[in-house]
Amino acid sequence: MTYALILPASNLVASGVQRAVYLHPTDRNKLIKVLKSNSDMPRRRNFNGVMDRWFPSTRLRQIRKEYTEYLRVMLKHPEPEFHAPMSHMFGFVSTNMGLGCLTERVMTPDGQLGETLGAKVKKGTLTDEQLSLLNDTVARLFTHNIRASDMNPKNFVFGQRDNGSGPGPEECVLVDGFGDIHAIPVRSIGKWSNRLGLNDSCKRLAQNTGLIWDAATREFSR
Ligand SMILES: Nc1ncnc2c1ncn2[C@@H]1O[C@H](COP(=O)(O)OP(=O)(O)O)[C@@H](O)[C@H]1O
Ligand SMILES: [Mg+2]
Repeated sequence: MTYALILPASNLVASGVQRAVYLHPTDRNKLIKVLKSNSDMPRRRNFNGVMDRWFPSTRLRQIRKEYTEYLRVMLKHPEPEFHAPMSHMFGFVSTNMGLGCLTERVMTPDGQLGETLGAKVKKGTLTDEQLSLLNDTVARLFTHNIRASDMNPKNFVFGQRDNGSGPGPEECVLVDGFGDIHAIPVRSIGKWSNRLGLNDSCKRLAQNTGLIWDAATREFSR
């Protein structure tokens, strides 16, 4: 087998439910997200078995929705000044760990992964400035009518991203959970219904972080 990239095991820096996150071996501004294999699947050696193991259908649908939503938003906003509330995705690469998605790294000045909203809330280190950054990101999700049905506190990362000429300002970035992640679509594409859905997601995020969500102003507070 030949791979576009070899990922040393030591580059593994985070792991979610679905994906293992590796530092890009040569580009400090990027991460590689590799889908975890579904080890519970019976092991079949034929093509379908391999595909099933790696892409059970619901999972595949959810993952596809995330990339589709990314494409939809970016094609709608090709203007250079567009400030995306979610992390950029640069396509796929074959790696020794499996299919990887090349992703923009949200990081601290020394290149480490930025801290999640969940981690900050747990430690009690979320600053007022960072709360404003979260509100700014949420405002852009509403403004651009982005589907984000999984506003898990672990999916918001604080840090800087490279803006082409070096690290940008600190911001709060949604790194996962956009697109309609439900196996059965619960809301149609309408703007109005998406706002309702975003509002629900924000309410849930408030419950999970101890923050207060004001649906009228669309802002979190303490
Ligand atoms: N673009 C990113 N920049 C910095 N950290 C990230 C980024 N994407 C993911 N992470 C970190 O990796 C964890 C898991 O990644 P995620 O994409 O949420 O995987 P999963 O789909 O398994 O939840 C996140 O909770 C976060 O801590
Ligand atoms: Mg996640």
